[in-house]
Amino acid sequence: MAVIAQKCPEIDVTVVDINEQRIKDWNDENLDNLPIYEPGLKEVVAEARGRNLFFSTDVEKAIDEAQMIFLSVNTPTKTYGKGKGMAADLKFLELSARQIARVAKEDKIVVEKSTLPVRTAEAVKTILDSTSNGVKFHILSNPEFLAEGTAIKDLQEGDRVLIGGEQTPEGQEAMDALSDIYAHWMPQDRILQTNVWSSELSKLTANAFLAQRVSSINSLSALCEATEANVEEVGRAIGADSRIGPKFLKTSVGFGGSCFQKDILNLVYICRSLGLQEVADYWEQVIIMNDYQKKRFADKIISTLFNTVSGKKMAFLGWAFKKDTNDTRETAAMYVADHLMDDQANIHVYDPKVRHEQMFADVDYLNTRSEAENKELLTPETDPYEACKDAHAIAILTEWDEFVDYDWQRLYENMMKPAFVFDGRNILDKEKLESIGFVYYGIGR
Ligand code: UDX
Repeated sequence: MAVIAQKCPEIDVTVVDINEQRIKDWNDENLDNLPIYEPGLKEVVAEARGRNLFFSTDVEKAIDEAQMIFLSVNTPTKTYGKGKGMAADLKFLELSARQIARVAKEDKIVVEKSTLPVRTAEAVKTILDSTSNGVKFHILSNPEFLAEGTAIKDLQEGDRVLIGGEQTPEGQEAMDALSDIYAHWMPQDRILQTNVWSSELSKLTANAFLAQRVSSINSLSALCEATEANVEEVGRAIGADSRIGPKFLKTSVGFGGSCFQKDILNLVYICRSLGLQEVADYWEQVIIMNDYQKKRFADKIISTLFNTVSGKKMAFLGWAFKKDTNDTRETAAMYVADHLMDDQANIHVYDPKVRHEQMFADVDYLNTRSEAENKELLTPETDPYEACKDAHAIAILTEWDEFVDYDWQRLYENMMKPAFVFDGRNILDKEKLESIGFVYYGIGR
Protein backbone atom coordinates (compact mmCIF):
# COMPACT_ATOMS: atom_id res chain seq x y z
CA MET A 1 0.00 0.00 0.00
CA ALA A 2 2.96 2.28 0.66
CA VAL A 3 4.15 1.76 -2.89
CA ILE A 4 0.68 2.47 -4.30
CA ALA A 5 0.62 5.68 -2.26
CA GLN A 6 4.08 6.61 -3.50
CA LYS A 7 3.20 6.02 -7.15
CA CYS A 8 -0.28 7.57 -7.02
CA PRO A 9 0.01 10.83 -5.08
CA GLU A 10 -3.57 11.85 -5.94
CA ILE A 11 -5.04 8.75 -4.28
CA ASP A 12 -5.45 8.67 -0.50
CA VAL A 13 -4.36 5.36 0.99
CA THR A 14 -5.32 4.55 4.58
CA VAL A 15 -3.92 1.43 6.20
CA VAL A 16 -5.96 0.23 9.15
CA ASP A 17 -5.30 -2.39 11.76
CA ILE A 18 -6.97 -3.18 15.07
CA ASN A 19 -3.53 -3.61 16.63
CA GLU A 20 -2.85 -0.20 18.20
CA GLN A 21 0.82 -0.79 18.84
CA ARG A 22 1.43 -1.74 15.25
CA ILE A 23 -0.26 1.40 13.93
CA LYS A 24 1.70 3.45 16.43
CA ASP A 25 4.90 1.90 15.11
CA TRP A 26 3.93 2.66 11.52
CA ASN A 27 3.41 6.28 12.56
CA ASP A 28 6.68 6.45 14.48
CA GLU A 29 8.81 9.56 13.81
CA ASN A 30 11.88 7.35 13.76
CA LEU A 31 11.61 5.33 10.57
CA ASP A 32 13.92 2.69 11.96
CA ASN A 33 11.09 1.65 14.25
CA LEU A 34 8.71 0.57 11.47
CA PRO A 35 7.34 -2.90 12.29
CA ILE A 36 8.77 -4.49 9.14
CA TYR A 37 12.35 -4.37 8.00
CA GLU A 38 12.54 -4.30 4.21
CA PRO A 39 15.23 -2.59 2.13
CA GLY A 40 13.88 0.66 0.65
CA LEU A 41 10.64 0.62 2.63
CA LYS A 42 11.43 3.46 4.99
CA GLU A 43 12.27 5.76 2.08
CA VAL A 44 8.89 5.02 0.49
CA VAL A 45 7.06 5.60 3.78
CA ALA A 46 9.03 8.81 4.37
CA GLU A 47 7.92 10.13 0.99
CA ALA A 48 4.22 9.28 1.20
CA ARG A 49 3.30 9.27 4.88
CA GLY A 50 1.25 12.30 5.88
CA ARG A 51 0.84 13.27 2.20
CA ASN A 52 -1.52 10.54 0.98
CA LEU A 53 -0.51 7.57 3.11
CA PHE A 54 -2.11 7.25 6.52
CA PHE A 55 -2.06 4.64 9.27
CA SER A 56 -5.01 4.41 11.61
CA THR A 57 -6.94 2.18 13.98
CA ASP A 58 -10.27 3.69 12.96
CA VAL A 59 -11.34 0.78 10.79
CA GLU A 60 -14.98 1.82 10.39
CA LYS A 61 -14.20 5.35 9.26
CA ALA A 62 -11.74 4.02 6.70
CA ILE A 63 -14.29 1.53 5.35
CA ASP A 64 -16.91 4.25 5.14
CA GLU A 65 -14.66 6.64 3.21
CA ALA A 66 -12.99 4.19 0.82
CA GLN A 67 -14.09 3.45 -2.72
CA MET A 68 -11.79 0.47 -2.89
CA ILE A 69 -10.88 -1.79 0.04
CA PHE A 70 -7.90 -4.15 0.03
CA LEU A 71 -8.35 -7.11 2.35
CA SER A 72 -4.86 -8.03 3.53
CA VAL A 73 -5.52 -10.02 6.66
CA ASN A 74 -3.44 -13.05 7.48
CA THR A 75 -4.65 -16.51 6.54
CA PRO A 76 -2.47 -18.89 8.56
CA THR A 77 -2.72 -22.66 8.36
CA LYS A 78 -5.58 -23.82 10.61
CA THR A 79 -4.35 -25.03 13.98
CA TYR A 80 -7.65 -26.58 15.08
CA GLY A 81 -10.65 -28.55 13.93
CA LYS A 82 -11.44 -29.57 10.36
CA GLY A 83 -8.46 -29.20 8.03
CA LYS A 84 -6.10 -28.68 10.99
CA GLY A 85 -2.48 -28.39 9.84
CA MET A 86 -3.46 -27.97 6.18
CA ALA A 87 -6.40 -25.72 5.35
CA ALA A 88 -6.17 -21.94 5.49
CA ASP A 89 -7.81 -20.30 8.47
CA LEU A 90 -10.22 -17.75 7.02
CA LYS A 91 -11.51 -16.46 10.33
CA PHE A 92 -9.91 -13.03 9.97
CA LEU A 93 -11.07 -12.68 6.41
CA GLU A 94 -14.64 -13.49 7.34
CA LEU A 95 -14.63 -11.07 10.28
CA SER A 96 -13.32 -8.30 8.01
CA ALA A 97 -15.91 -9.04 5.33
CA ARG A 98 -18.67 -8.91 7.95
CA GLN A 99 -17.39 -5.60 9.24
CA ILE A 100 -17.34 -4.12 5.73
CA ALA A 101 -20.87 -5.39 5.14
CA ARG A 102 -22.05 -3.78 8.35
CA VAL A 103 -20.43 -0.39 7.87
CA ALA A 104 -20.59 0.30 4.11
CA LYS A 105 -23.22 2.77 2.94
CA GLU A 106 -22.10 3.08 -0.70
CA ASP A 107 -20.97 0.68 -3.44
CA LYS A 108 -17.42 -0.54 -3.05
CA ILE A 109 -14.80 -2.61 -4.76
CA VAL A 110 -13.34 -5.19 -2.40
CA VAL A 111 -9.94 -6.56 -3.35
CA GLU A 112 -8.66 -9.85 -1.91
CA LYS A 113 -4.97 -9.36 -1.32
CA SER A 114 -4.39 -12.21 1.11
CA THR A 115 -3.45 -15.54 -0.45
CA LEU A 116 -6.56 -17.61 -0.33
CA PRO A 117 -7.79 -21.00 -1.32
CA VAL A 118 -9.65 -21.14 -4.57
CA ARG A 119 -13.25 -19.97 -4.51
CA THR A 120 -12.89 -17.83 -1.41
CA ALA A 121 -14.06 -14.77 -3.29
CA GLU A 122 -17.43 -16.48 -3.52
CA ALA A 123 -17.62 -16.75 0.26
CA VAL A 124 -16.65 -13.11 0.66
CA LYS A 125 -19.26 -12.12 -1.87
CA THR A 126 -21.97 -14.14 -0.14
CA ILE A 127 -21.21 -12.41 3.16
CA LEU A 128 -21.08 -8.95 1.59
CA ASP A 129 -24.25 -9.45 -0.44
CA SER A 130 -26.20 -10.58 2.59
CA THR A 131 -26.64 -6.99 3.75
CA SER A 132 -30.06 -5.75 2.93
CA ASN A 133 -29.19 -2.06 2.56
CA GLY A 134 -28.83 -2.11 -1.23
CA VAL A 135 -25.07 -1.55 -1.28
CA LYS A 136 -23.30 -3.30 -4.19
CA PHE A 137 -19.91 -4.94 -3.83
CA HIS A 138 -17.54 -6.02 -6.56
CA ILE A 139 -14.97 -8.57 -5.53
CA LEU A 140 -11.58 -8.71 -7.17
CA SER A 141 -8.71 -11.07 -6.54
CA ASN A 142 -5.31 -9.37 -6.72
CA PRO A 143 -2.71 -11.73 -5.27
CA GLU A 144 0.64 -10.35 -4.18
CA PHE A 145 3.76 -11.78 -5.78
CA LEU A 146 6.41 -9.82 -3.89
CA ALA A 147 9.16 -11.73 -2.12
CA GLU A 148 10.41 -10.49 1.22
CA GLY A 149 13.79 -8.78 1.23
CA THR A 150 13.15 -7.50 -2.30
CA ALA A 151 9.55 -6.36 -1.77
CA ILE A 152 9.95 -2.75 -2.82
CA LYS A 153 11.82 -3.62 -5.98
CA ASP A 154 9.37 -6.43 -6.77
CA LEU A 155 6.49 -3.99 -6.46
CA GLN A 156 8.10 -1.15 -8.37
CA GLU A 157 9.37 -3.34 -11.21
CA GLY A 158 7.16 -6.42 -10.99
CA ASP A 159 7.01 -9.13 -13.65
CA ARG A 160 3.24 -8.92 -13.60
CA VAL A 161 0.17 -7.85 -11.68
CA LEU A 162 -2.73 -10.25 -11.67
CA ILE A 163 -6.31 -9.05 -11.35
CA GLY A 164 -9.19 -11.50 -11.24
CA GLY A 165 -12.76 -10.30 -11.55
CA GLU A 166 -16.29 -11.32 -12.41
CA GLN A 167 -16.97 -11.77 -16.11
CA THR A 168 -19.73 -9.15 -16.21
CA PRO A 169 -19.72 -5.50 -17.33
CA GLU A 170 -19.59 -4.38 -13.68
CA GLY A 171 -16.82 -6.87 -12.97
CA GLN A 172 -14.88 -5.54 -15.95
CA GLU A 173 -15.35 -1.99 -14.70
CA ALA A 174 -13.99 -2.93 -11.29
CA MET A 175 -10.99 -4.71 -12.84
CA ASP A 176 -10.27 -1.66 -14.97
CA ALA A 177 -10.43 0.63 -11.93
CA LEU A 178 -7.74 -1.42 -10.22
CA SER A 179 -5.73 -1.74 -13.43
CA ASP A 180 -5.69 2.07 -13.67
CA ILE A 181 -3.98 2.25 -10.28
CA TYR A 182 -1.18 -0.13 -11.31
CA ALA A 183 -0.91 1.57 -14.72
CA HIS A 184 0.57 4.58 -12.88
CA TRP A 185 3.87 2.71 -13.03
CA MET A 186 3.40 -0.73 -14.60
CA PRO A 187 3.42 -1.25 -18.40
CA GLN A 188 -0.05 -2.31 -19.63
CA ASP A 189 1.15 -5.67 -20.94
CA ARG A 190 2.18 -6.71 -17.44
CA ILE A 191 -1.29 -6.15 -16.00
CA LEU A 192 -3.08 -9.45 -16.50
CA GLN A 193 -6.83 -9.79 -16.12
CA THR A 194 -8.40 -13.20 -15.52
CA ASN A 195 -11.46 -14.67 -13.92
CA VAL A 196 -11.46 -14.75 -10.12
CA TRP A 197 -10.76 -18.47 -9.79
CA SER A 198 -7.78 -18.40 -12.14
CA SER A 199 -6.30 -15.52 -10.22
CA GLU A 200 -6.72 -17.21 -6.85
CA LEU A 201 -5.30 -20.50 -8.11
CA SER A 202 -2.37 -18.83 -9.89
CA LYS A 203 -0.97 -17.47 -6.67
CA LEU A 204 -1.05 -20.80 -4.86
CA THR A 205 0.43 -22.67 -7.77
CA ALA A 206 3.11 -20.08 -8.63
CA ASN A 207 4.42 -20.58 -5.09
CA ALA A 208 4.10 -24.35 -5.44
CA PHE A 209 6.20 -24.27 -8.64
CA LEU A 210 8.87 -22.10 -7.00
CA ALA A 211 9.03 -24.28 -3.91
CA GLN A 212 9.18 -27.35 -6.15
CA ARG A 213 12.32 -26.00 -7.80
CA VAL A 214 13.99 -25.57 -4.43
CA SER A 215 12.93 -29.05 -3.31
CA SER A 216 14.15 -30.47 -6.63
CA ILE A 217 17.62 -29.00 -6.27
CA ASN A 218 17.68 -29.93 -2.58
CA SER A 219 16.85 -33.53 -3.47
CA LEU A 220 19.85 -33.47 -5.81
CA SER A 221 22.08 -32.09 -3.05
CA ALA A 222 21.56 -35.31 -1.11
CA LEU A 223 22.36 -37.31 -4.23
CA CYS A 224 25.48 -35.22 -4.87
CA GLU A 225 26.73 -35.88 -1.36
CA ALA A 226 26.34 -39.59 -1.96
CA THR A 227 28.34 -39.34 -5.18
CA GLU A 228 31.23 -37.19 -6.36
CA ALA A 229 28.99 -34.60 -7.98
CA ASN A 230 28.78 -30.99 -6.80
CA VAL A 231 25.28 -29.54 -6.61
CA GLU A 232 26.47 -26.00 -7.36
CA GLU A 233 27.93 -27.22 -10.63
CA VAL A 234 24.88 -29.33 -11.40
CA GLY A 235 22.59 -26.36 -10.66
CA ARG A 236 24.60 -24.11 -12.94
CA ALA A 237 24.51 -26.67 -15.73
CA ILE A 238 20.76 -27.25 -15.39
CA GLY A 239 20.03 -23.52 -15.17
CA ALA A 240 21.98 -22.81 -18.35
CA ASP A 241 19.21 -24.52 -20.28
CA SER A 242 17.10 -21.52 -21.27
CA ARG A 243 13.91 -23.57 -20.94
CA ILE A 244 14.72 -24.11 -17.28
CA GLY A 245 16.52 -20.86 -16.44
CA PRO A 246 18.99 -20.06 -13.65
CA LYS A 247 16.75 -18.63 -10.91
CA PHE A 248 15.59 -20.47 -7.81
CA LEU A 249 18.04 -23.33 -8.20
CA LYS A 250 20.11 -22.55 -5.14
CA THR A 251 20.35 -25.42 -2.74
CA SER A 252 19.75 -24.62 0.92
CA VAL A 253 18.97 -26.07 4.30
CA GLY A 254 15.32 -25.85 3.22
CA PHE A 255 12.91 -23.15 2.20
CA GLY A 256 11.02 -21.17 4.79
CA GLY A 257 8.80 -18.11 4.80
CA SER A 258 5.15 -17.42 5.27
CA CYS A 259 4.01 -18.60 1.86
CA PHE A 260 5.52 -21.73 0.40
CA GLN A 261 4.59 -24.31 2.99
CA LYS A 262 1.23 -22.73 3.76
CA ASP A 263 0.22 -22.43 0.14
CA ILE A 264 1.26 -25.95 -0.78
CA LEU A 265 -0.52 -27.44 2.22
CA ASN A 266 -3.52 -25.49 1.13
CA LEU A 267 -3.22 -26.78 -2.42
CA VAL A 268 -2.88 -30.33 -1.11
CA TYR A 269 -5.93 -29.87 1.08
CA ILE A 270 -8.00 -28.51 -1.78
CA CYS A 271 -6.97 -31.43 -4.02
CA ARG A 272 -7.83 -33.97 -1.32
CA SER A 273 -11.18 -32.29 -0.72
CA LEU A 274 -11.90 -32.61 -4.42
CA GLY A 275 -10.94 -36.30 -4.41
CA LEU A 276 -7.77 -35.68 -6.44
CA GLN A 277 -5.56 -37.94 -4.34
CA GLU A 278 -2.69 -38.30 -6.83
CA VAL A 279 -2.50 -34.57 -7.40
CA ALA A 280 -2.44 -33.98 -3.64
CA ASP A 281 0.34 -36.56 -3.13
CA TYR A 282 2.37 -35.07 -5.95
CA TRP A 283 2.49 -31.62 -4.35
CA GLU A 284 2.80 -32.90 -0.82
CA GLN A 285 6.12 -34.47 -1.77
CA VAL A 286 7.55 -30.93 -2.14
CA ILE A 287 6.93 -30.39 1.57
CA ILE A 288 8.18 -33.83 2.53
CA MET A 289 11.44 -33.15 0.68
CA ASN A 290 11.79 -29.82 2.46
CA ASP A 291 11.29 -31.39 5.89
CA TYR A 292 13.83 -34.04 4.96
CA GLN A 293 16.40 -31.40 4.00
CA LYS A 294 16.13 -29.59 7.35
CA LYS A 295 16.40 -32.83 9.28
CA ARG A 296 19.24 -34.08 7.09
CA PHE A 297 21.24 -30.93 7.87
CA ALA A 298 20.71 -31.31 11.62
CA ASP A 299 21.57 -35.02 11.45
CA LYS A 300 24.72 -34.22 9.52
CA ILE A 301 25.81 -31.88 12.32
CA ILE A 302 25.18 -34.51 14.97
CA SER A 303 26.89 -37.34 13.12
CA THR A 304 29.91 -35.18 12.27
CA LEU A 305 30.31 -34.08 15.87
CA PHE A 306 30.99 -37.69 16.85
CA ASN A 307 27.32 -38.58 17.19
CA THR A 308 26.50 -36.25 20.02
CA VAL A 309 25.98 -32.55 20.52
CA SER A 310 24.81 -32.92 24.11
CA GLY A 311 26.15 -30.07 26.25
CA LYS A 312 28.12 -28.68 23.31
CA LYS A 313 27.97 -25.03 22.35
CA MET A 314 26.76 -24.57 18.77
CA ALA A 315 26.79 -21.18 17.05
CA PHE A 316 24.02 -20.30 14.59
CA LEU A 317 24.69 -17.46 12.20
CA GLY A 318 21.29 -16.35 10.95
CA TRP A 319 17.76 -17.05 12.07
CA ALA A 320 15.57 -15.25 9.49
CA PHE A 321 14.15 -17.46 6.71
CA LYS A 322 16.33 -15.60 4.22
CA LYS A 323 18.53 -12.53 4.13
CA ASP A 324 17.34 -8.91 4.18
CA THR A 325 14.27 -9.64 6.26
CA ASN A 326 13.52 -9.97 9.96
CA ASP A 327 10.75 -12.46 9.19
CA THR A 328 11.23 -15.87 10.77
CA ARG A 329 8.00 -17.62 9.84
CA GLU A 330 8.71 -21.27 8.99
CA THR A 331 12.43 -20.52 9.02
CA ALA A 332 14.59 -23.61 8.60
CA ALA A 333 16.69 -22.31 11.52
CA MET A 334 14.03 -23.06 14.10
CA TYR A 335 13.58 -26.64 12.91
CA VAL A 336 17.31 -27.30 12.84
CA ALA A 337 17.63 -25.74 16.31
CA ASP A 338 14.74 -27.82 17.59
CA HIS A 339 16.29 -31.00 16.31
CA LEU A 340 19.66 -30.21 17.89
CA MET A 341 17.98 -29.20 21.14
CA ASP A 342 16.40 -32.64 21.22
CA ASP A 343 19.98 -33.81 21.43
CA GLN A 344 20.59 -31.28 24.24
CA ALA A 345 22.83 -28.91 22.30
CA ASN A 346 23.39 -25.39 23.63
CA ILE A 347 22.57 -23.11 20.75
CA HIS A 348 23.82 -19.54 20.57
CA VAL A 349 22.18 -17.54 17.82
CA TYR A 350 23.23 -14.34 16.15
CA ASP A 351 21.05 -12.68 13.51
CA PRO A 352 21.54 -9.04 12.47
CA LYS A 353 17.80 -8.24 12.31
CA VAL A 354 15.76 -10.77 14.28
CA ARG A 355 14.72 -9.74 17.79
CA HIS A 356 15.70 -12.06 20.61
CA GLU A 357 12.13 -12.54 21.88
CA GLN A 358 11.21 -13.72 18.39
CA MET A 359 13.73 -16.56 18.54
CA PHE A 360 12.20 -17.81 21.78
CA ALA A 361 8.71 -17.38 20.37
CA ASP A 362 9.70 -19.53 17.38
CA VAL A 363 11.04 -22.48 19.34
CA ASP A 364 8.14 -22.23 21.80
CA TYR A 365 5.76 -22.31 18.83
CA LEU A 366 7.09 -25.75 17.88
CA ASN A 367 5.89 -26.90 21.27
CA THR A 368 8.53 -29.61 21.63
CA ARG A 369 9.60 -28.75 25.17
CA SER A 370 8.73 -26.29 27.93
CA GLU A 371 9.53 -22.58 27.64
CA ALA A 372 11.92 -22.95 30.56
CA GLU A 373 13.85 -25.70 28.78
CA ASN A 374 13.99 -23.63 25.61
CA LYS A 375 15.40 -20.70 27.59
CA GLU A 376 18.08 -22.97 28.93
CA LEU A 377 19.14 -24.44 25.59
CA LEU A 378 18.83 -21.37 23.36
CA THR A 379 20.84 -18.16 23.84
CA PRO A 380 20.33 -15.22 21.49
CA GLU A 381 23.49 -13.13 21.06
CA THR A 382 24.07 -9.55 19.95
CA ASP A 383 27.65 -10.11 18.85
CA PRO A 384 28.59 -12.82 16.33
CA TYR A 385 32.09 -13.27 17.77
CA GLU A 386 30.59 -13.89 21.21
CA ALA A 387 28.15 -16.37 19.67
CA CYS A 388 31.01 -18.37 18.19
CA LYS A 389 33.44 -18.14 21.11
CA ASP A 390 34.22 -21.63 22.47
CA ALA A 391 31.69 -23.20 20.12
CA HIS A 392 32.31 -26.62 18.60
CA ALA A 393 30.63 -25.71 15.37
CA ILE A 394 29.19 -22.79 13.41
CA ALA A 395 26.08 -23.36 11.33
CA ILE A 396 25.04 -20.84 8.68
CA LEU A 397 21.24 -20.74 8.52
CA THR A 398 20.64 -17.47 6.65
CA GLU A 399 22.68 -16.10 3.75
CA TRP A 400 23.30 -12.61 5.24
CA ASP A 401 26.09 -10.89 3.25
CA GLU A 402 27.94 -9.79 6.37
CA PHE A 403 28.78 -13.39 7.35
CA VAL A 404 31.11 -13.72 4.37
CA ASP A 405 33.13 -10.69 5.51
CA TYR A 406 33.73 -11.84 9.08
CA ASP A 407 37.25 -12.36 10.34
CA TRP A 408 37.17 -16.16 10.01
CA GLN A 409 40.71 -16.49 11.29
CA ARG A 410 39.68 -14.81 14.54
CA LEU A 411 36.51 -16.92 14.78
CA TYR A 412 38.60 -20.05 14.33
CA GLU A 413 41.10 -19.14 17.00
CA ASN A 414 38.41 -18.71 19.64
CA MET A 415 36.58 -21.97 18.93
CA MET A 416 36.92 -25.50 20.29
CA LYS A 417 39.00 -27.79 18.08
CA PRO A 418 38.38 -29.41 15.76
CA ALA A 419 36.30 -26.43 14.61
CA PHE A 420 33.44 -27.21 12.23
CA VAL A 421 31.47 -25.03 9.83
CA PHE A 422 28.14 -26.24 8.44
CA ASP A 423 27.29 -23.92 5.61
CA GLY A 424 23.55 -24.33 5.16
CA ARG A 425 23.50 -21.70 2.42
CA ASN A 426 26.76 -22.42 0.61
CA ILE A 427 27.92 -18.80 0.91
CA LEU A 428 31.42 -19.34 2.30
CA ASP A 429 34.66 -20.06 0.51
CA LYS A 430 35.41 -23.71 1.23
CA GLU A 431 39.12 -23.56 0.31
CA LYS A 432 39.70 -20.46 2.41
CA LEU A 433 38.07 -21.96 5.50
CA GLU A 434 39.89 -25.25 5.10
CA SER A 435 43.20 -23.44 4.82
CA ILE A 436 42.47 -21.69 8.13
CA GLY A 437 41.90 -25.09 9.71
CA PHE A 438 38.11 -25.47 9.74
CA VAL A 439 36.40 -28.71 8.89
CA TYR A 440 33.94 -27.49 6.27
CA TYR A 441 30.62 -28.99 5.21
CA GLY A 442 28.59 -27.33 2.44
CA ILE A 443 25.29 -28.66 1.17
CA GLY A 444 25.74 -30.97 -1.79
CA ARG A 445 29.38 -30.21 -2.38
C1 UDX B 1 7.62 -16.19 -1.97
C2 UDX B 1 7.47 -15.96 -3.49
O1 UDX B 1 8.77 -15.84 -4.09
C3 UDX B 1 6.65 -14.74 -3.74
O2 UDX B 1 6.44 -14.59 -5.13
C4 UDX B 1 5.32 -14.88 -3.04
O3 UDX B 1 4.54 -13.73 -3.22
C5 UDX B 1 5.54 -15.13 -1.57
O4 UDX B 1 6.36 -16.27 -1.36
P1 UDX B 1 9.17 -15.19 -0.02
O5 UDX B 1 8.61 -16.28 0.82
O6 UDX B 1 9.18 -13.82 0.54
O7 UDX B 1 8.38 -15.11 -1.41
O8 UDX B 1 10.71 -15.54 -0.38
P2 UDX B 1 11.47 -16.34 -1.53
O9 UDX B 1 12.54 -15.47 -2.04
O10 UDX B 1 10.56 -16.91 -2.52
O11 UDX B 1 12.19 -17.51 -0.72
C6 UDX B 1 11.47 -18.57 -0.08
C7 UDX B 1 12.42 -19.56 0.57
O12 UDX B 1 13.09 -20.35 -0.42
C8 UDX B 1 13.52 -18.91 1.40
O13 UDX B 1 13.70 -19.62 2.60
C9 UDX B 1 14.73 -19.00 0.51
O14 UDX B 1 15.92 -18.97 1.22
C10 UDX B 1 14.48 -20.32 -0.19
N1 UDX B 1 15.18 -20.45 -1.48
C11 UDX B 1 14.90 -19.60 -2.51
C12 UDX B 1 16.13 -21.45 -1.65
O15 UDX B 1 16.40 -22.22 -0.74
N2 UDX B 1 16.75 -21.57 -2.87
C13 UDX B 1 16.49 -20.73 -3.92
O16 UDX B 1 17.08 -20.90 -4.99
C14 UDX B 1 15.53 -19.71 -3.71
